[in-house]
This record gives sequence, C-alpha cells and structure tokens, in this order.
Amino acid sequence: MVKKAKAENFPYALAFIDVRMPPGWDGIETITRIWEIDPFIEVAICTAYADYSWDQIVSKLGYTDHIIIIKKPFEKIEIKQMATALIQKWNSATRARLNVKKLESNLQNQIEIKETIIEFANLINSLKSLDGICRNIIDFTANLIKSERISIMLPDEHEENLYIVKSIGIPDEIIDNTFVKTGEGIAGEVFTSGEKLIINNIEDSKYRKRYSSYDSFLCLPFVYTLPRKKTINLGVFNLTNKQNNMPFTKDEVTLVSYVVNTSAVALYNQITGSKREETLLGSIAALIKEREAHDHYMAGHSNQVSLLAKGIAEELGLKREEIDKISLAGLLHDIGKAEIPKSILSKQGKLTEKEYNLIKEHPAIGERILNENNLPINITDGIRHHHERLDGSGYPDRLKGEQISIDAKIIAVADMFDAMRSKRSYRHAIPERMIKKELMGKAGITLDPECVQALFSYMGI
Ligand SMILES: [Fe+2]
Repeated sequence: MVKKAKAENFPYALAFIDVRMPPGWDGIETITRIWEIDPFIEVAICTAYADYSWDQIVSKLGYTDHIIIIKKPFEKIEIKQMATALIQKWNSATRARLNVKKLESNLQNQIEIKETIIEFANLINSLKSLDGICRNIIDFTANLIKSERISIMLPDEHEENLYIVKSIGIPDEIIDNTFVKTGEGIAGEVFTSGEKLIINNIEDSKYRKRYSSYDSFLCLPFVYTLPRKKTINLGVFNLTNKQNNMPFTKDEVTLVSYVVNTSAVALYNQITGSKREETLLGSIAALIKEREAHDHYMAGHSNQVSLLAKGIAEELGLKREEIDKISLAGLLHDIGKAEIPKSILSKQGKLTEKEYNLIKEHPAIGERILNENNLPINITDGIRHHHERLDGSGYPDRLKGEQISIDAKIIAVADMFDAMRSKRSYRHAIPERMIKKELMGKAGITLDPECVQALFSYMGI
C-alpha cells in the first residue's frame, strides 16, 4: 500500500499504528518496514502499556522526530488534533524538501550553464573567420532557446544600413532583400542606441505595424568597449517569435547577453583585423605586382620566397601561427624596394657604391612601410633582418648568430635559393646541384645550417 502510493506520487503523510497488531508483525516491525519504503511518513503509535516508553521505542527504532506515542485510552478529538498537526508537519517538511531539491537543481543548472558559456567563449575566441564566429553564435543560442528566427546583422561600411550576415529560419530571398536603416526599426534603433530591446508582445508595442508578422522580439547589440571606456557597436543579434508564443524570460535574456558580450570581442578582432588586413594586403599585393611587372626577372619572386619560407618553417616543425607569419613575411620581404628608384633596381651594369648603399636600405624601408600600416600580426622582424648573416657580414644592423630571429634566417635562405635558381639578365639560372653546393658552403658561416637542411628536405634535393 505504502509502496504503491509512493510510486503513484501520492505518498501517505501519516500512519496510525497500534503496538500490538496480532497476528504477525508487531507495530514496531511494521514501522520499520514502512520506513524502508518511505522514510518521511509520520507515525502515531498507540499503546495501552505504560511500560512501552519513548526510550524503549527509540532503542528499537533509533532517534526520530517522525513518531508520536499516544497512550490509551484517548478521546476521538485528541486523535483528530494530533493527526491534523502531524499532517501539517508532513506537508511543510515535504514542501521544504522539494524547495531544497529545486534549489539544488537550479544551482546545478547555473553551474552547467556557466561551464557551457566558458566552453563557448573559448571556442569563439579560437575561431579565425567571421563566418565561423557568426555560425557558432547562432547555433549555440539556438540550442538554448527555441525561436523561429535567429539572425546576426552587421552594418555596411558607412553604417547606413544593417544586413543579415548569418541566420537560421529566414528564407534566402528575405536574407538577400533585407536591410534595415540604422536608427530605424528594432534592429536599427538597438544598433544606434546600444541598448537591448525585449518585446514579448509586439501588439502592445510601438512596432506593431512594422512587425505585424512577429509575436516577440529580442534584439541585443554587439558592443565592444575600447580603452577609455569608449564603446563601438559592431552589429545586432535578433531572436524573433519564441516557440509556443512564450515570452523571453529574464534568465534567457541574461544568457543571450552573456553570449553577445562574449562574442563581441572575437567579432571586433575579426572585423577590424580582416578590414585592416584586406586594405593592407590589397595595396601591398598591388604594389608587389606593379613592381614585378616592370622586372620580369623578379616576377613571382615574392610569391616563391613566401612558399619556400613556409616549406622550411614546416620542415622545422614550427607552430601554425609562426608558419603563417613567416609565409607573409616572405611575401613582403622586399616591399621596401618600392621606394628605391626602378633605374637602380634594374640597372644592367655594375652598381656604384652609392647605389648599392641605397639598395641596402630596403629592409628598413620595408619595416617602416609595415609599421605605418598597422599590420595585425608582427612580421617586421623577418623583413628588417632578411639580409643579416650569421657571421655579422649582413645589413642593416650587422646582427650575428642568435641575434637573428628564426623568421629572418628562414627568409634569408629562401630568398637566396630563389634568386640563384632564377634567370637574371646577366646570367642563366643556376642548376640545383650547384645551388646545393653553394648553400652547403654558406651553411654555418652566413646561413643557418638547420634552415639550409630544412630547405633541402622540403625541395627533396
Ligand atoms: Fe631583399
């Protein structure tokens, strides 16, 4: 009976038991068995024997506040009062237990959410593409909150309109044709004000005409805080029509705020980084192309040095970021030549000392050009020092041995190798076995021997 009631979620509050219950178990045994099934049942045990004291019962059942002993004879009203009191006690104890359980599970939920958010932050910050970051923000939120549409909108270059860059639940033709003027509509206002908007009933809001197909709307800005507390808004995050017409709860808004704030940093780095890189790399690539177009012997040299430097760095087992850095430095190693007169660079005859000294300035000029352009990664060292030599015979700083960075050592080898294997106006391309001999002779004297060896492995020579 007790087992069945508990299983059906209607447990008994009170058991009224006589100590003497013939035949079979006595009252004490019955209580023991009841408590094995449900330890929270209150028990009123009645006895006619004055010698069945509280102490004796405690010695049999252990100390408990779930028992009351009633001595016979008793009045009906006494039983009624006692039963009412015990049931009330059971009720409040049960409520308290449920509350504790709820608190524990809330706490557990909060801990789990916190851990999930930390995992999310780590993931977002490790991503290197705007597309990947936006996709992960949306997928992560979609797993937590079910709503019909989720989207990220970013502004155009002049911050006149916001466009959907990533979304779920929105048909392609709407994505392509949707733009919101900044300062107008929900997303536009949120972008301009930097304040989130939570609308749980669009009908009751000033937006009902413009957004008649929506029930609810949650819109948050991606705000990035610069030094001196200046803030910039990068875009907005929209969630519309929460599932089953339910309102967005306070907890959900807090959660989405976490997601948005966490993502703002990664988004900022990506947007500004790629903008800077786009502009810089675009102009640099054009510059290299323009330079090399006038000198077909030099054509493709920058690209080749970049590839060779990457190959050497990989052979040496460097980290991925290091390899990318060296590859970019290889591409830009001679960028400083842009400011050296073309007549000197492509001079057929012997250079005068003055001309040669001018050419020797190109690594420092290259470094200056890159510094002026605020490149997001620091590659200036590889560029300034790609003509330094181990024995101190190089330029511009006459560095020796370990004073030269690995970036510069790698580019030096790649640069020399590509120069030797290319045809020049005054000579044919040098055969590979001759180059190998030449480089082996320089290894350990002017060139880093490990980099030379890594080049041979990479080239398979
Ligand atoms: Fe150079």
